[in-house]
Amino acid sequence: MLTASCLTGWASGLWKSHNNLTMTTWRGVLDQRLQHQREQHLERSLTAFQSIDTTHIQKPGADRALINFSSNDYLGLRSHPELAAAIAESSRLPVAGAGAARLLSGNHPLHEQLELELAEFFSRDAAMLFSTGYVANLAVLQALGRRGDVIIQDRLCHASLIDGARLADSKLLRYRHLDTDHCQTLLEQPAGLQIVTTDGVFSMDGDLAPVTELAGLARSHEALLIVDDAHGIGVLGEQGLGLLEHAGLSQADVPLLLGTFGKSFGLAGAFVAGDQQLIDYLRNFARGWIYSTAPPLPLVAAQRRALQITVSEPERRHRLHQRISYFKQLAKQLQLPLLPSDTAIQPIQIGPSAVALDLQAKLETLGFYVAAIRPPTVPKGTARLRITLSSEHQQSDIDRLLMALAENIGQFSDAD
Ligand SMILES: Cc1ncc(COP(=O)(O)O)c(C=O)c1O
Repeated sequence: MLTASCLTGWASGLWKSHNNLTMTTWRGVLDQRLQHQREQHLERSLTAFQSIDTTHIQKPGADRALINFSSNDYLGLRSHPELAAAIAESSRLPVAGAGAARLLSGNHPLHEQLELELAEFFSRDAAMLFSTGYVANLAVLQALGRRGDVIIQDRLCHASLIDGARLADSKLLRYRHLDTDHCQTLLEQPAGLQIVTTDGVFSMDGDLAPVTELAGLARSHEALLIVDDAHGIGVLGEQGLGLLEHAGLSQADVPLLLGTFGKSFGLAGAFVAGDQQLIDYLRNFARGWIYSTAPPLPLVAAQRRALQITVSEPERRHRLHQRISYFKQLAKQLQLPLLPSDTAIQPIQIGPSAVALDLQAKLETLGFYVAAIRPPTVPKGTARLRITLSSEHQQSDIDRLLMALAENIGQFSDAD
């Protein structure tokens, strides 16, 4: 029978059994953890949004749309009519799903065609599709890092690179953000295979990895350098090939490049492109690829189209860079505390999570959606508004957002 003390115990996660042993209940433990999350202002909850177009979203039933400054659709491809058309066209194929993993019967000529196009686009030997960027990082690092090996990462790498390194059997070492001297020190320690990984454009900060220096270090230590350029591809480089094009680095410098279709390409999915031996290796050992169903064909058709549009419509990238310069210039005039970023990611660091949430809510009442990013996505005490820009934002959208921020930011910071 449940007694009163038993019920109180239940809520705290502890429960005394009939023979007086203290036990935990799964529900109580989860309650405690969620309660802690709430108390720290770190609770996550979902809001549904309908997308009106690339830069406008609306809550179902709301009487007006919000200007969206929180998407990774940097080139506005999400609403490009040719992507929807590619999906519609391929829906005439007799099957929609791949039906199996690539190594079974799920390998369609469309998958291979896209991989060839990616290899050509990035001037790499070969490419390999993954279901998401998160899975790609898990799969690549798990496949490469074995006992006795070491994975060396920038401290601010994306969660998927951290989790991939945790999944590997190797040791994980992290260097201070952008600190190549620290990276060099870590490379001096003896290990089997040494793998250096970094975001190209840091996802929550918008700054660039020192890829030229890292490539030099990797070369001199015979280490393997992997760059996850999820937020650089489409945005940086004359042709939109990303940070490596911007820095003039080739496959010889960076043998493996990771990109996603979920950011500039406006879709979902991911790929790695690089050295043939590496791709052959991954096909044999990357469990997140081997044991997972191949991407559905309508998605692959749209991914191919998105890649072509990135080349054929460079004006989108040019417009995005105009927007970035305009944003930075006006934010500077208004004395807003920007981080050192020249990319589409322009965060405003706030500090306490509760204040960042309050500011997000205030901006929403003024017609803007800017998500507050809190730990553990960013380090403790560095909650921020992660503003992201798109080629499709109007200058007037930027004017209004920055004016709203300038009028409110002081009030919210003082309130803390
Ligand atoms: C640097 C980086 N890598 C990987 C990912 C994961 O990509 P995906 O959304 O395709 O899973 C993200 C997504 O936020 C990212 O920012």
